[in-house]
Amino acid sequence: MLYKSLIRPILFSIDPELAHEASLKALSLIQGFLPFSKIPFKKHEVEVAGIKFPSKIGLAAGMDKACVAPLAWQSLGFGFVEVGTITYHSQLGNSKPRLFRLAKQESLINRLGFNGPGAEVVAERLKKLKQSNKLKIPMGANIGKSRIVNSEDKEAVINDYLNTLDKIQAYADYIAINVSSPNTPGLRDWQSAQQLISLLQPIKNKSLKPIFLKISPDLDEASLNQILEVANNLKIDGIIATNTTISRKNCPEWSIAEAGGLSGALLKEKSLNILKQLIKNKSDKLAIISVGGIHSADDIKQRLDLGADLVQIYTALVYEGPWWVSKATRDTQEGIISS
Ligand SMILES: Cc1cc2nc3c(=O)[nH]c(=O)nc-3n(C[C@H](O)[C@H](O)[C@H](O)COP(=O)(O)O)c2cc1C
Repeated sequence: MLYKSLIRPILFSIDPELAHEASLKALSLIQGFLPFSKIPFKKHEVEVAGIKFPSKIGLAAGMDKACVAPLAWQSLGFGFVEVGTITYHSQLGNSKPRLFRLAKQESLINRLGFNGPGAEVVAERLKKLKQSNKLKIPMGANIGKSRIVNSEDKEAVINDYLNTLDKIQAYADYIAINVSSPNTPGLRDWQSAQQLISLLQPIKNKSLKPIFLKISPDLDEASLNQILEVANNLKIDGIIATNTTISRKNCPEWSIAEAGGLSGALLKEKSLNILKQLIKNKSDKLAIISVGGIHSADDIKQRLDLGADLVQIYTALVYEGPWWVSKATRDTQEGIISS
C-alpha cells in the first residue's frame, strides 16, 4: 500500500533509469541494516541442479547487473539472486534514454545494452561477498558478450564468454549464459543449433558450476526443440525462459517505434507459451526457470503447476514494489502446502 500510494508516484515522476539507479543506490546503502526476511525458508527448500534453493522465487538478471545490493534481495525475501549480465569488458551500453515505462500495461521497454563495470570489478564484489558469508541464498552469475568484440569473429566471441566465466565462476552457484538479449547486435544468432553448440561445448568443458541457458520468447517451436536437443546432448543443467520480447503486440502507439526488449505483463502470454512447449518436450533432468510477466502469487503458482522448477521476477518489482516478493512468496507457498 505504502509503495503504490506514496513511493511509486514519486519514482514514476522521474526518468525510469534514474529511478532505477536511485532505488538501487538506496538498497545498496541500507542492505546491511535490513532485517532478514521472515519467510520460513528452510521449510520450503528445494534442490535444483544440485543447488539448494530456500525458495523457488528469485530475482531475474538485469535488476542488479553489477552486484551492488545482494543482501537487500535476500532481506526482501528472494530465494536466489541472479546478477548480470556481466561482460568481460566494462561498457557504457546504448545511448540514453533507453528505459521506458508502459505504465497502464505494467510493462517496460529497455535497450540498456549490457551497461556494466566489467567482469573484473564484479568478480571482486562477488569474492568479497562470498568471503563475508553473509549471503545465505544461491547466487547466479549471468554472462554475455562484450560489445567491442566483433560478432562476426566467432572464436573471439566464444573466448570473450570463456574469459568472463574464468573470472566469475568461483564465486557463483550457477552460471547463466545469455544468448537472448535483443539489445546486443548478433547475440540472438547464438541460439541457432550450430552456433549454440560451438559456444556451449567449451563453456561446459571449462565450467565447474551448473550451466543455465537463457533463451528468447521469440523462438518458434522448431528452434526451441533444436535448443532442447543441444541442451540434452551437452548436458546443460537448466533453461531460463524467457528474456524480453521484440514483439509490440498490445503496446501503446508511442512505444511501437522504440527499439528494445519488452518485459512485464505484456510478455506473460509469450513466456507461458514457451514454458508449456519446454515442459512438453524436455528431458527429465533439465531444470526450467520460468520468467516473464509474473505479477501475482497466482502467476507464480501457475508456472510451478505447469512444471517450472523455479521462477524469476523483474518488472513486477517496479509496479508492485519490493515488499511484494515476501507476500507473494508466502501466499504461493501456503497455496502449495495446502494443495
Ligand atoms: C531494465 C531491464 C534490464 C534487463 N537486463 C537484463 C540483463 O542484463 N540480462 C538478462 O539476461 N536479462 C535482462 N533483463 C530481462 C529480465 O531478466 C527478464 O528476463 C525479463 O524482464 C522478463 O521478466 P519480467 O517480465 O518479470 O520483467 C532485463 C529486463 C529489464 C526490464
